[in-house]
Amino acid sequence: MASKVIKGGTVVTADLTYQADVKTEGGVITEIGPNLSGDEVLDATGCYVMPGGIDPHTHMEMPFMGTYSSDDFESGTRAALAGGTTMVVDFCLPSPGQSLLEARQMWDNKSTRANCDYSFHMAVTWWSEQVFNEMPEITKQGINTFKHFMAYKGALMVEDDEMYASFKRCAEIGALPLVHAENGDVVAQLQEQLLAEGNNGPEAHAYSRPPEVEGEATNRAIMIADMAGVPVYIVHTSSEQAHEAIRRARQNGIRVFGEPLIQHLTLDDSEYAHKDWDHAARRVMSPPFRNKKHQDSLWAGLQSGSLQVVATDHCAFTTEQKRYGVGDFTKIPNGTGGLEDRMPMLWTYGVNTGRLTMNEFVAVTSTNSAKILNMYPKKGAILVGADADLVVWDPNKEKTIEASTQQSAIDYNVFEGKHVKGLPRFTLTRGKVAIDDGAVKTEEGHGKFVKRDSFGATNKALSTWKELTAPRKVERTGIPASGV
Ligand code: URP
Ligand code: ZN
Ligand code: ZN
Ligand code: ZN
Repeated sequence: MASKVIKGGTVVTADLTYQADVKTEGGVITEIGPNLSGDEVLDATGCYVMPGGIDPHTHMEMPFMGTYSSDDFESGTRAALAGGTTMVVDFCLPSPGQSLLEARQMWDNKSTRANCDYSFHMAVTWWSEQVFNEMPEITKQGINTFKHFMAYKGALMVEDDEMYASFKRCAEIGALPLVHAENGDVVAQLQEQLLAEGNNGPEAHAYSRPPEVEGEATNRAIMIADMAGVPVYIVHTSSEQAHEAIRRARQNGIRVFGEPLIQHLTLDDSEYAHKDWDHAARRVMSPPFRNKKHQDSLWAGLQSGSLQVVATDHCAFTTEQKRYGVGDFTKIPNGTGGLEDRMPMLWTYGVNTGRLTMNEFVAVTSTNSAKILNMYPKKGAILVGADADLVVWDPNKEKTIEASTQQSAIDYNVFEGKHVKGLPRFTLTRGKVAIDDGAVKTEEGHGKFVKRDSFGATNKALSTWKELTAPRKVERTGIPASGV
């Protein structure tokens, strides 16, 4: 691969802003400094040169609720690159009873079509000696994160005893548990009650998942993780109740991470009141969109550092798929898209409003994920030797989001009509220009699996502390004769 120089831009990382050219060769960054030359020049005048986005939470071609999510690794990663995201972390999802190794193989097969790099989380959807035994093999294969669903009763949900056992196993093997935190038992009862009352439209999806079910489960997951001696990562944190549990735990020294989604930050629950059934159903996801109070809480979390990353949970279903739930909201496939829009929407509503600095933007869209998931500085950094996953960000480029021009395979966009200012001029995946001023030049199969080792820094520190403070039998000098 010929060398490239990104010239005339301002480098923006999670901690620095400075003028420099960036040279890439063989897929990595080889030089950073003034007046660089190379075989090809990319003009970054007036632009910010940032680490490409990392979306830590996506579901490509995911088997769920009787169907498959409609973006696969090809269309999904194409959408990602179009919006400045150069890596996705997707979930291998064994069906209950299925081997984790077999699920891994299935995801390997699907991901051969990826246009950008990717990694996997493994879901623990059931519990047994086999799962316990396979977990270390999975970490050896470069997957150091295990997802647990506290919701979706009767399908993916795990019980507290299973979660505690799995968390302890994660502690032993240096892995990080992830949790979808909603009280699945309460949700199931609320769903039944709402349907019995004739409340069967998409708005009832939101009524069945109030913030309290999320707050309760988030707190429970954090406490169980603390007892198991392992850090924990809460996916799609959407409410003040969940954020409050995370914030409180962090103030007490507990190692917990929170992940708001761009959808929850910028769209609210009024969407479910829309008169058009399709409009509301297209926005059905778990947890549901919330009101302004919750949105303000999530923004504050990003500003103060109590929430660390912004993801999409990209899980796209077509209108036709959403219509499986006409007459019964519990059958509407849960999930929304967002991969192409995450960075422009966060820039527009975060940086352009002054809620986030540019450096904070890089931290929450890229660097923090790379650190938490243990792939920094290969990903999430602009450093010599790091992968040349870069976005040349033009703060003056604008567009109105429209499904008709998007890369995603579905027929609508939940951000339809939103005007964004701040878009990629170029997106580079390991040195290859995939987005060239609006032109899509992605290469199917270019993406590679990124191995992530276990025993990241937080795991190591926490297990050292837990070992030091573990219960120990007191060796006594005098023991009275047993009671007579
Ligand atoms: O509604 C959602 N979030 N769908 C995707 C699966 C999940 O729970 O993350
Ligand atoms: Zn989830
Ligand atoms: Zn998800
Ligand atoms: Zn290639």
